[in-house]
Amino acid sequence: MNYRHLYHAGNFADVFKHVVLTALLQAMQRKPKPFCYIETHAGAGKYALNSTTAHKTQEFEQGIQRLWHLTDIPELVSSYLEIVKKFNPSNQLRTYPGSPCLARQLLRPEDRMVLCELQSEVYAQLRQEFSRTKQARVYLEDGYGILKAILPPLERRGVVLIDPSFEQANEFKNLVRQVHAACQRWETGVYVLWYPIKSQRILQKFHRDLVATGIKELLTIQLYVYPKDVELRLNGAGVVIIHPPYQLDNAISQVLPWLCEKLTVERGSYVLEYL
Ligand SMILES: C[S@@+](CC[C@H](N)C(=O)[O-])C[C@H]1O[C@@H](n2cnc3c(N)ncnc32)[C@H](O)[C@@H]1O
Repeated sequence: MNYRHLYHAGNFADVFKHVVLTALLQAMQRKPKPFCYIETHAGAGKYALNSTTAHKTQEFEQGIQRLWHLTDIPELVSSYLEIVKKFNPSNQLRTYPGSPCLARQLLRPEDRMVLCELQSEVYAQLRQEFSRTKQARVYLEDGYGILKAILPPLERRGVVLIDPSFEQANEFKNLVRQVHAACQRWETGVYVLWYPIKSQRILQKFHRDLVATGIKELLTIQLYVYPKDVELRLNGAGVVIIHPPYQLDNAISQVLPWLCEKLTVERGSYVLEYL
């Protein structure tokens, strides 16, 4: 495993994923019953953007940096930025909260989180970050393996974020297989699957395979910062949300055009549709 999220922290794909996650966790808070937030591929929790590693790629400059000094911001993006600002109290962008730290800010005291990371150094950072949080359990394990052990959660309400590093050639195929098995164990959970978009052919096959499992209520949201037909290293990023909460599609569709305009590099676009 060579992947280190620090190289990518705060890039356009992170901003997109974390705005969607903010909307989703806000929607989960609308019902009083506690929920469980589960992350299979959690990463380090937060990232120092002034580290030499992050500076090597400068990816955050085309992501969170572009939004940092804007003033006229849609409400949902503003909620997300307020959380990022909590990690940067001097107002200088130095730290980027990954999904575990972002999610923690969007849980209520009665909610719970389970985080999983396989890379031992990254796990050590994550565990340190959450060492004083009683509502979180952090595991050094394969994220798909943990799903077998903990689904369905005691609360019977919750979100599973699956955000793999896509280092393996068969990652899309494996993702479909694992999600199908997870849904069989816990049918009513909300699942968020994040994926990079390099080729429309691979994306369409992934979507077809998901539909073929018979899982219902598949919402896909994609954000492109380059034209869709140009196969670059990464021309877009997407999520599939299984069983999205009521009105989540509406909340996200209201900010997608704005996000696209701010993050595009060349002829960006977006998609929001049910498969
Ligand atoms: C894309 S990063 C996660 C980023 C994080 N979700 C965020 O948004 O801040 C993927 C992480 O998964 C870890 N990883 C890779 N294979 C794994 C596995 N089988 N189980 C758990 N974690 C894994 C990698 O070490 C990496 O830290």
